[in-house]
Amino acid sequence: MKTVAETLTAHRSIRQFKPDEIPQNVIDEVLQEAIMGTSSSGNLNSFSVILTRDPVRKRRLYELHSEQDFVLQAPLVITFCADWHRTRQWLKLRGARDNFNNFLGYQVAANEAMLISQSVTLGFEARGYGLCYMGTTLQAMQEIADYLNLPETCLPITTIAVGVPDEQPERRERLPMRAYIHDETYQEASTSKLEELYQAREISGWQRYMSMPHLKAMCEEGSITSLAQMYTSPYKYDPDAYAATSLRVLEALRGRGFLPGGLEVGQDEQ
Ligand SMILES: Cc1cc2nc3c(=O)[nH]c(=O)nc-3n(C[C@H](O)[C@H](O)[C@H](O)COP(=O)(O)O)c2cc1C
Repeated sequence: MKTVAETLTAHRSIRQFKPDEIPQNVIDEVLQEAIMGTSSSGNLNSFSVILTRDPVRKRRLYELHSEQDFVLQAPLVITFCADWHRTRQWLKLRGARDNFNNFLGYQVAANEAMLISQSVTLGFEARGYGLCYMGTTLQAMQEIADYLNLPETCLPITTIAVGVPDEQPERRERLPMRAYIHDETYQEASTSKLEELYQAREISGWQRYMSMPHLKAMCEEGSITSLAQMYTSPYKYDPDAYAATSLRVLEALRGRGFLPGGLEVGQDEQ
């Protein structure tokens, strides 16, 4: 098994998988290690993890995840949920005051879901498995919640598709470390510093897009001439689509009882 440093150094998102199943004992080991080895706010462990292996269910998740092919290929799809439902049921059982059905509760549980997802990621990667996260979880938050039968105050936060890698992608670049690290207080980058920080990324990122004929054609068609323009173009993170998704996320929070006004009369357990 790889060390943490070796695992991080070897990390690449994997989007092509061999058909090999992941043995149940490996899945159990990775999950157990992650649950025991991840810090948790109040040790209340406000997350749930849904394992999907059934091909029919995977196909539906594939549709909900914008038809990303690797969802069908990967033998295992894991949805990490922010979940206060279990804890709130327990509080109720013991006659304790209800809590966590508000935005702060959502934020804390969403953090927990992301923390546990990265521990699980490291566990699989340390054992030579590959995976890719799916941001489409937030785009289809409500639909995925419905499909997976998630109860009140439980929502999907992120998803990974895991399996045996069938590709060896290049390591993806990051900005130089000094872009992210601030000494004592935040130091805003000057224009010349920004130019310097993004220089290598703009060249390598743009070259990567231009090396893919369909993306090159899309850029030419949409008069996109730089990496920055590509990022907020309709092909990537279109601002209007992003704002619309943002509203849908708020509706999902309301619908699952994390924001006021979303529950049917009588459903609110307070
Ligand atoms: C929260 C999150 C959501 C992501 N969503 C997707 C996705 O929907 N589809 C995809 O192909 N990659 C997705 N990725 C993978 C990123 O594209 C990838 O991590 C990034 O390009 C850096 O590459 P690397 O992981 O190989 O270093 C996601 C990553 C994160 C952390």
